[in-house]
Amino acid sequence: MNLLDVKHVTKRFGGLVANDDVSFSVERGQIVGLIGPNGAGKTTLFNCIAGYNAPTEGEIRLDGRMVHGLAPEQCARIGIARTFQVARTFTSMTACENVMVGALMLRRNTVLARSKALELLEFVGLARHAERAAGSLTVSEQRRLAVARALALEPKLLLMDEVMAGLNPSEVRDAVDVVLKIRGQGISCLIVEHVLEGIMPIADRIVVLDYGRKIADGTPAEVSRDERVIAAYLGE
Ligand SMILES: Nc1ncnc2c1ncn2[C@@H]1O[C@H](COP(=O)(O)OP(=O)(O)OP(=O)(O)O)[C@@H](O)[C@H]1O
Ligand SMILES: [Mg+2]
Repeated sequence: MNLLDVKHVTKRFGGLVANDDVSFSVERGQIVGLIGPNGAGKTTLFNCIAGYNAPTEGEIRLDGRMVHGLAPEQCARIGIARTFQVARTFTSMTACENVMVGALMLRRNTVLARSKALELLEFVGLARHAERAAGSLTVSEQRRLAVARALALEPKLLLMDEVMAGLNPSEVRDAVDVVLKIRGQGISCLIVEHVLEGIMPIADRIVVLDYGRKIADGTPAEVSRDERVIAAYLGE
């Protein structure tokens, strides 16, 4: 059984069709990239998968279980964690406290939450910044902090929305290393990304959206020579 199945998902906002009959799946242990021009519906689809949007039509299952109708906290409890395209860091709290917010959703014990948070900061390469105010971290560090906070929910599937945007090439490499380490822990990753040099080399599969519709789904090599994909990107 696939870890995630998205079947015929349509999401309308009034007359606008943000996701139009989208189907794809994520197998266990895979890194799947979700790409497409601005406004293609990538974040909307994430919101449907993580319980922030209810799809207008279609169904979404994690491990065979319906996600449709669950609230974001319930999605988190069944194993779906995410980062946000616009960072939601608690800037005046320390890096450690930010990750504890995630950890405390699973266990109401601050000592355990703190040790889990420190372990995850180490995992994403932020151990030495644990006691710094999160707002004083660089953009690249704040992205990894958001990933650590999502990992504190001990997800089966991690959704990352543009965690590489605006990073320099060495920071992109750091972000790529973190994604590979996450998969190494057996966590599947679904990644929305415009930074193709970050996602293409590491993805098992790439799903391409354009104007809400899926226009391609295949290996990075297959997708990058697909004429519809090339046209969608050149037309942007
Ligand atoms: N809450 C909302 N209400 C109305 N329209 C929305 C809402 N959220 C998204 N949209 C519209 O849905 C479409 C898809 O937006 P979405 O944010 O999913 O695109 P995206 O692929 O994530 O784009 P980007 O690469 O710029 O982040 C856009 O036309 C957007 O304006
Ligand atoms: Mg988006």
